[in-house]
This record gives sequence, structure tokens and C-alpha cells, in this order.
Amino acid sequence: MPLVPTAELVVPGTGIGAFNVITLEHAEAIVAGATAANRPVILQISENAVRFHAGALGPVAAAARAVAGAATVGVALHLDHVKSPDLLRQAPEHGFGSVMADFSELSYLDNVAATREAAEFAHGHGLWIESELGAVGGKDGAPPPPPHAPGARTDPAEAADYVKATGVDALAVAVGSSHAMTSRGAELDFELIAALRAAVPVPLVLHGSSGVTDAGLRRAVAAGIVKVNVGTALNVAFTGAVRGALAADPAVVDPRRYLAKGRDAMAGTVAAFLSVLA
Ligand code: G3H
Ligand code: ZN
Repeated sequence: MPLVPTAELVVPGTGIGAFNVITLEHAEAIVAGATAANRPVILQISENAVRFHAGALGPVAAAARAVAGAATVGVALHLDHVKSPDLLRQAPEHGFGSVMADFSELSYLDNVAATREAAEFAHGHGLWIESELGAVGGKDGAPPPPPHAPGARTDPAEAADYVKATGVDALAVAVGSSHAMTSRGAELDFELIAALRAAVPVPLVLHGSSGVTDAGLRRAVAAGIVKVNVGTALNVAFTGAVRGALAADPAVVDPRRYLAKGRDAMAGTVAAFLSVLA
């Protein structure tokens, strides 16, 4: 089926899973998991993943598009954590329905200015745009910030001004999660999520969702999170299964033998996350 516009899947009052694609096997596993769960899904490719592919967006985007095109569930394609204006400008030609401009590490005013420019480009090209205010830590291998560090969390009043000033369609918020957690011990601030939902007129996005428990994800969606971004948990499942397959058969040389195990494990993880969001 054709790609679904991201805006159609990010509906207030519901939870939608957005999963990070690094390789073809990720895209296949995410769509297999969504099919098993009978849920729509967002495939997202980050600027970091593009860097892994020698800076080329085309091949990995084409793979994701092709896998999405063969799906029987709704699939949207999103470009994630983009800092490079050049990469952002490539999104329309590669079939993306949405982008996330990530200028969260800049000062408030610089974040607003850069995001507003990105939003003008996005809307001028029919793209839905998400951006981030606050500091969801753990990006690029950085240690997560202390949970209550000043400025680490998104302030509701500032978030309302930010959305108005930038014109974004969704807001990624810092509410206690961190990227790249390999265990699920993040403690979310549900009161803050509810306050942000009340203050901000656009859907809220949770990053670093791999570190949040199933119960935490359910409460987060009930409190106002709509788009739930998951990456690391997929790699935990994939790499664990590949490691097990290699250990079980030290003579194996055909990558299909162990990649299939990794892909199956990843699909199971996707289905499990989606069943929590249902
Ligand atoms: O944008 C992607 C997500 O925030 C993924 O975070 O790898 O910690 O699940 P995660
Ligand atoms: Zn993220």
C-alpha cells in the first residue's frame, strides 16, 4: 500500500510507534512486527543512520520505501533528528512524509530561529515537522543528563511559546526519558506530560522510549504522549539474537542464518511495543 502521511498516524488521544531503521533488516522487522500486531507504524531514519551509510540518504530511504510499499498495514516514513539543513532539504525527493528538526542543543532563541526556518521549508514542501525543546539526553553516545538538572525538562509555558513561534506540527519533550537505554528504568514525569499536553496545541513525542516500562508507556500515552520513538530496544533484541546464533553455530558463515534470527527477534520486540500502545 502507498505510504501514509505521518499526520494521519499521529492522532491526539492515541499512541503510535515510530521505530528507527538502520539497515534493510530493520525496515523488514519493523513492518513484520507491525503486521503481526495489525497496527500502523512509522519508519524513521535518523541523521546518524544516514552518516552510517556514508552520508547517503537515497539507498536506505529507498529500502524503507520499498518495504513500506509492500506492507498490508499503514506505514509512514519520517526523517529523524536532523541537524543538517542540507539533509532536511533532501527529504521531499526521497519520499518522506515528515521530518524532525533537532536544534534542541542550541539556546532557546537559536532553536526557535533554526526550527522556524526548517518548518517553513517543510510546510512549503508538504512535510509534517516535529522538533524538540528541552534536553532528552543520551544522543551520540553522550551520558544522560541528571534527571532534574535545570533546563533538562521541557517547561510548559516555554513550550507553548515555542510551538507558536516555530509553527511545528509536533513537539518532542524532555520528561524523564533518555536515549540509548538498554534497560527499562527511566522514570517519567507524568504530571509534566499532562501539563505540557494542556499547554501545547500539537501532539507530544516521547524520545528514548526504549528505556520506559510497558506501564510507563501506557501512562505516558494516557497523559498526552502520541508518538513513541523506539530505537535501542530493537538493537538489543537484534544483537542478542545474532550473538546467540553465532555462539550456537561457530562455523556459520552465511549471514542470512544469523541475520534472520536477529530480524525475527526485532519483529517480536516491535509487536510487543505496539501491543502496549494499542
Ligand atoms: O528518535 C529516536 C528515539 O528517541 C529512540 O530512542 O533508542 O533510546 O529508544 P531509543
Ligand atoms: Zn530521539
